[in-house]
Amino acid sequence: MVAEEAAGFPDGFLFGAATAAYQIEGSPLADGAGPSGWHRFAHTPGLVANGDTGDVACDHYRRYREDFLLMMELGLDAYRFSIAWGRVLPEGTGRVNQQGLDFYRRLLDALGEAGIAAMATLFHWDLPAALDDRGGWLNRDSASWFAEYASVVFRALDDRVALWVTLNEPAVVTHCGYLYGIHAPGHRNLFEAPIAAHNLLRAHAEAVRAYRAEGRKPIGLVVSLEPKYPSTPEPADVAAAARDDAFTNRWFLDPVFLGRYPEELRDVFGEAWPEVSGGDLELLRTPVDFIGVNYYTRGVVRDDAAALPLRVARVRQEAAHTEMGWEVYPRGLFDILMAVRERYGDVPLYVTENGAAFADPPPSQDGVRDPRRVDYLSEHLRAVRQAMAGGVDVRGYFAWSLLDNFEWHLGYTKRFGLVHVDYATQRRTPKASARFYAEVIRSRGASLR
Ligand code: FCB
Repeated sequence: MVAEEAAGFPDGFLFGAATAAYQIEGSPLADGAGPSGWHRFAHTPGLVANGDTGDVACDHYRRYREDFLLMMELGLDAYRFSIAWGRVLPEGTGRVNQQGLDFYRRLLDALGEAGIAAMATLFHWDLPAALDDRGGWLNRDSASWFAEYASVVFRALDDRVALWVTLNEPAVVTHCGYLYGIHAPGHRNLFEAPIAAHNLLRAHAEAVRAYRAEGRKPIGLVVSLEPKYPSTPEPADVAAAARDDAFTNRWFLDPVFLGRYPEELRDVFGEAWPEVSGGDLELLRTPVDFIGVNYYTRGVVRDDAAALPLRVARVRQEAAHTEMGWEVYPRGLFDILMAVRERYGDVPLYVTENGAAFADPPPSQDGVRDPRRVDYLSEHLRAVRQAMAGGVDVRGYFAWSLLDNFEWHLGYTKRFGLVHVDYATQRRTPKASARFYAEVIRSRGASLR
């Protein structure tokens, strides 16, 4: 690792926290909103732990002002949140629901009054159910549906937003939603996954093009990246790590920066890999202003012929793991930031999500003690600073998450928040990690060991 760490973070570096609409808002059908695919998924028995749903979540839809006070106490420079497509366009296309736009306008006004910059994500997985009925991301028209929705939002909210994100983690939508079936829409289909992936990227590019016509703020794409390391130097394991890297990391960045899909995917998907036209590849290469990197863990992998379709197995390491079963590996954040610069050039980056779920003790008079989360954040922030000292243009860091929230198919069983949420009372209690992070922000990183 680079030995020299800069003393602090440069002026203008954004320290933030992140959330997503379905995970915190609650009131998913309020004020004329249309249901999302996640609403349906969570309301289908057996698909989410404990039968949990996003019906109430953190009740942020009604308590956002209280949550902004928490953000001010933290001293956040920026807040990353997502807009629920179905609040704005209840049927996904066509009729605009003014009340939905008004909610986000109020939210952005309150954020502006708090002096916190807004990073708005247009799609954090809550596709309107009406669009699932039309094939969802398998329908080639999904790219124009998304551009239509994006344009409505740009026109209404661009003056209040500092940074736009098109999609959050298209890889997770593809893998978990269309290949493994554990996220909405719950499909398990080898042939569908590459089609959904391709349409997600087309949608992203169409939205960026629509934005260029009217907006001037930076707009980018958020990807989840997990560096892959072979468990042994054997050629088969090295090839397995390369396959997994293509599947997890390069699938959604190579088209944007290099105008092509990784070769390994043809091998992974075989006859399920679709032919893609040159015109589509040209579209996918539409320039972006930044990439958001979500980082949680690494993968140490080996070749495993039985693990189809990827033929890769994870090798568990003797190391600390979070409640998600994810290895704590801060060095991986350094490695992946360096790797992005190496492969795609000097593109501005934000770490748009980073954090850890631990089984925190319940709040007591002293608050919530979460020393492992403090260590996790501290070590990962230092890894960011090291990557910056190594020449990577990182412009900001967003902790996942501001609040404990609905962790998708795992429901409320995993807590990632800087702030504890008692779901029975909706009481918020800042954890020790919140105080730690506030001090990092106040000192512009100088307080990090
Ligand atoms: C990411 C998601 C985010 C959250 C974290 C733990 O993949 O973007 O919504 O669930 O994982």
